[in-house]
Amino acid sequence: MNIVLGVSGGIAAYKAVMVVRLLVEAGHDVQVVPTDDALRFVGKPTWEAISRHPVTTSVHENVAEVRHVALGQRADLVVVAPATANTLARMAAGIADSLLGTTLLATQAPVLVAPAMHTQMWQHPATQANVATLRARSVEFIGPDDGRLTGADSGPGRMSEPDQIAARAMEILARRTVKRDLMGVTLLVSAGGTREPIDPVRFIGNRSSGRQGVAIAAAAAARGAEVVLLAASIEEAILAEVVGCPEVRIERVWTAAELQNAADREAPGADVIVMAAAVSDYRVAEMRETKMRKEETAGTQLTLALIENPDILAGLVRSRRPGQLIVGFAAETAENQQALLELGRQKLARKGADLLAVNAVGWSQGFESAENTLYVLAAGGELVSTAGGSKREAADGLLDAIVPRLSRRVLSTAE
Ligand code: C5P
Repeated sequence: MNIVLGVSGGIAAYKAVMVVRLLVEAGHDVQVVPTDDALRFVGKPTWEAISRHPVTTSVHENVAEVRHVALGQRADLVVVAPATANTLARMAAGIADSLLGTTLLATQAPVLVAPAMHTQMWQHPATQANVATLRARSVEFIGPDDGRLTGADSGPGRMSEPDQIAARAMEILARRTVKRDLMGVTLLVSAGGTREPIDPVRFIGNRSSGRQGVAIAAAAAARGAEVVLLAASIEEAILAEVVGCPEVRIERVWTAAELQNAADREAPGADVIVMAAAVSDYRVAEMRETKMRKEETAGTQLTLALIENPDILAGLVRSRRPGQLIVGFAAETAENQQALLELGRQKLARKGADLLAVNAVGWSQGFESAENTLYVLAAGGELVSTAGGSKREAADGLLDAIVPRLSRRVLSTAE
């Protein structure tokens, strides 16, 4: 596929060389469009050698080819890495006094931006306003990471690593060629961890980031589904992937009780229900209306009485309408894959779902990571697919297992 890599003038430009190499090695055609400033950091010969294409920064070269718009029009994806504060500002304002500027205005392809700058510049309200403007125009961001910066300082502002940028670029390209096999299907998905209040300032929660559920919502929308996302506790940056997406309606919930109300309300309209949320099994028996004070219990043990929450998934299975497909999740700590699947099979039998996506979790695995492996079990307990990779890839793998199981009624409406 055709990728334009815009490079702006920051020290991280040297890392962008590796991004080009990875994309070229993966078989993509990469045209590098540096700004004049970028060439102060990495020169033209490097970009030309690594991309195997001539490189120019000017709109006045190769005018006969109308290069200032042709690059953008041909592109399947534009990546800007590194994107300095200056370049973000110019992108937000639509300034077109360089080849990169005109390319960005002429393109209808997705745009992926990897910012790199000092922490203060990244956090400045002007930069943040520009980022918000670009996000609202569906520009995707990767990073910046929190780490070592150019000098001795460190903090948020470091450009994401080249392999992560290349991987995200390829993920976006893969999305462009997605099948539209969920057209006409309504999918209800829950995501994130519920929070059970103890008092007005404290809660019992869990480490679920919501990434997997959000990825399922985004993947299903890309495949043509109408999506209702019941979003429990999820960071705004993660939810941003589907905010503004016309096919995804987001309902925020916090407690298991709120999630249950929303799920019960939305379930009758859904063809597929995916319960990816990590629902608290218990809630505090007596929520306090005022903040608990340490003085009340100092020197003694604090005991919180907890009562069980209803199992929302099991309830949805009990009241399901004919033809509705219900998918549960099981996040388990297990010694090995066999033990993991065994726990999954027991859970599937208890809950009665049609499919169960089982994944391993642990101190350093599962919840907060960007990668996941989902073992998908069918009602009889058989392993029907193993969907791994990024959480988006895992989401698509799960949807691949869902589609052939949709009832004929749902699919015929979709046709
Ligand atoms: O029993 P466990 O919490 O491991 O089950 C996980 C599955 O059940 C997930 O799909 C989760 O969303 C769902 N669940 C639920 N209501 C609960 C607990 C879990 O729907 N109270």
